[in-house]
Amino acid sequence: MFDTLGLLCVIWWCVVLFHPLHADIQCMGSEAQESPITNVKMNWRKMELSWESSKNFSKYKCAIMNSDMKSVPKEVNSSLCWFPVEYHMPLHKGVSFIIEVPDTNISKHCTFIPGGMNGSAIENFSCVIYNISLMNCTWQPGRDAPGDTQYFLYWQNPIPGEAMECERYIKDENGRNTGCRFQNVSIEAEKAYFLVNGSSKDALIQFYDEYIQLYKIEILTPPLNVTANCTRGSAGCIITWQPPLTSHVKGTNCFWYEISIRNKDEPKEAKKDDPSEEVRNDSYEFQNYNEKKKYVLKIRARGNNCLVSSNWGEWSKPIEFGQGKDYFIFVILFLIALGTISVTLLQYCLFKRYCSFKSIFSPVPQPREKFNASTDEDIQTKYVNLPKTHCTEEITMVEEMT
Ligand SMILES: *[C@@H]1O[C@H](CO)[C@@H](O)[C@H](O)[C@H]1NC(C)=O
Ligand SMILES: *[C@@H]1O[C@H](CO)[C@@H](O)[C@H](O)[C@H]1NC(C)=O
Ligand SMILES: *[C@@H]1O[C@H](CO)[C@@H](O)[C@H](O)[C@H]1NC(C)=O
Ligand SMILES: *[C@@H]1O[C@H](CO)[C@@H](O)[C@H](O)[C@H]1NC(C)=O
Ligand SMILES: *[C@@H]1O[C@H](CO)[C@@H](O)[C@H](O)[C@H]1NC(C)=O
Ligand SMILES: *[C@@H]1O[C@H](CO)[C@@H](O)[C@H](O)[C@H]1NC(C)=O
Ligand SMILES: *[C@@H]1O[C@H](CO)[C@@H](O)[C@H](O)[C@H]1NC(C)=O
Ligand SMILES: *[C@@H]1O[C@H](CO)[C@@H](O)[C@H](O)[C@H]1NC(C)=O
Ligand SMILES: *[C@@H]1O[C@H](CO)[C@@H](O)[C@H](O)[C@H]1NC(C)=O
Ligand SMILES: *[C@@H]1O[C@H](CO)[C@@H](O)[C@H](O)[C@H]1NC(C)=O
Ligand SMILES: *[C@@H]1O[C@H](CO)[C@@H](O)[C@H](O)[C@H]1NC(C)=O
Ligand SMILES: *[C@@H]1O[C@H](CO)[C@@H](O)[C@H](O)[C@H]1NC(C)=O
Repeated sequence: MFDTLGLLCVIWWCVVLFHPLHADIQCMGSEAQESPITNVKMNWRKMELSWESSKNFSKYKCAIMNSDMKSVPKEVNSSLCWFPVEYHMPLHKGVSFIIEVPDTNISKHCTFIPGGMNGSAIENFSCVIYNISLMNCTWQPGRDAPGDTQYFLYWQNPIPGEAMECERYIKDENGRNTGCRFQNVSIEAEKAYFLVNGSSKDALIQFYDEYIQLYKIEILTPPLNVTANCTRGSAGCIITWQPPLTSHVKGTNCFWYEISIRNKDEPKEAKKDDPSEEVRNDSYEFQNYNEKKKYVLKIRARGNNCLVSSNWGEWSKPIEFGQGKDYFIFVILFLIALGTISVTLLQYCLFKRYCSFKSIFSPVPQPREKFNASTDEDIQTKYVNLPKTHCTEEITMVEEMT
């Protein structure tokens, strides 16, 4: 379906494609004498290169290129050359054209160099699609752009096809546009075109443009309806889910899934050794299931061709399964142990207090003078009669512990 749609897009798109025209095309002939090829023009809307020739050649070859790509030379029998959609390339870094006459050494080399002040174009342009149909694009103002520079974003998705200006700009503290939020974005097979130009009282601002394949920038939503069905007595659990929603793909064979099952009682550090598994099915059998343990399960998806992003999407909300009996026993045992220790310690303290006040207060200077009151003296004297060896033993133990 995408293919026929794609073809329609190509035809429709070339008619409506818009481009900024800050600069003219400059040409250089290959030979010393006058080139027969003159008056080279580019129609950006139609991506159509045209020229005039003083001699009647039956064939020409033409090509378009920028610093990153070069089209296959195309042979035409008139002085008109049309570039298909796969050779639509960003213009902000400049574009070159070559016109050649086959079997001769006649050729013409032309370049389009965008105008404007160097360093005034935006930088770090990036877009992300999330929550199925929302899109954010952000950028940073050019480092040498005048302070009053304002930027504007225009974009064109093959469907609906019209060039549109951003409706909801993201602004910085100075009111300068630094991004755009889009709603209702639909992902198409063809690339979308983005252009950010700018205006300032003081200078001509360079534009920035880019073609983006929208499916590649999508952050996939989590898989839906994740469940774990652990039948009593059997060794495994069946984990099931449904593919994440996207605006453009319904097929179930379009995704890979990563399944992360973590033992809840184990410390987080062990997470690296998770038995994460990658599967293509919409279900998975978890075999090392131990009924007495509690597990935390989460799943995420990525594309498997089908024009779906091959980056991992968001994790599903963690769900827990398993009885976790061991955990309860562990907690109870721990509480019992804690209780026992507390009671023992308490007994120690009480016993030790009554056993020897001296040793407790020994670091305080002149402890004796503090206990001149008759009641305190009484308490002390009462217990002085206890076996001394026993008491000192206990005191050393307490010191070791602290
Ligand atoms: C072009 O080729 C012709 C012969 O094919 C030659 O005489 C002429 O010098 C060439 N011109 C240049 C500029 O190389
Ligand atoms: C080129 O040839 C065509 C016929 O093939 C003729 O109609 C046309 O006038 C010629 N143009 C020039 C510039 O010689
Ligand atoms: C060359 O021109 C003729 C008409 O002059 C046209 O019928 C033919 O389709 C053209 N060929 C190509 C490859 O454009
Ligand atoms: C802008 O930078 C380019 C190279 O990046 C240079 O060729 C050009 O001369 C510069 N233009 C101005 C006006 O400085
Ligand atoms: C663009 O991003 C790079 C790397 O993050 C950073 O070094 C640079 O300063 C950014 N450009 C601007 C204009 O902020
Ligand atoms: C996703 O978008 C829908 C509306 O399209 C909205 O109701 C929902 O709150 C959004 N979710 C997030 C996580 O942004
Ligand atoms: C998109 O932009 C909005 C507003 O700036 C922000 O709240 C949101 O977190 C952004 N989402 C993403 C995925 O960048
Ligand atoms: C999204 O698009 C649909 C139809 O294309 C329209 O009915 C709906 O109002 C749009 N929603 C927003 C938030 O623009
Ligand atoms: C930016 O580009 C759009 C679309 O080509 C055009 O309509 C607009 O006038 C341009 N703005 C500036 C300031 O160059
Ligand atoms: C999740 O499962 C329930 C019941 O099985 C079903 O009604 C619901 O439609 C499912 N949700 C999605 C998004 O498929
Ligand atoms: C769990 O699986 C068993 C069979 O394996 C099935 O009978 C039962 O209905 C399933 N339960 C749920 C909630 O899917
Ligand atoms: C996918 O599930 C089917 C049964 O539904 C099973 O036969 C097949 O082995 C599974 N494939 C993988 C890769 O797990």
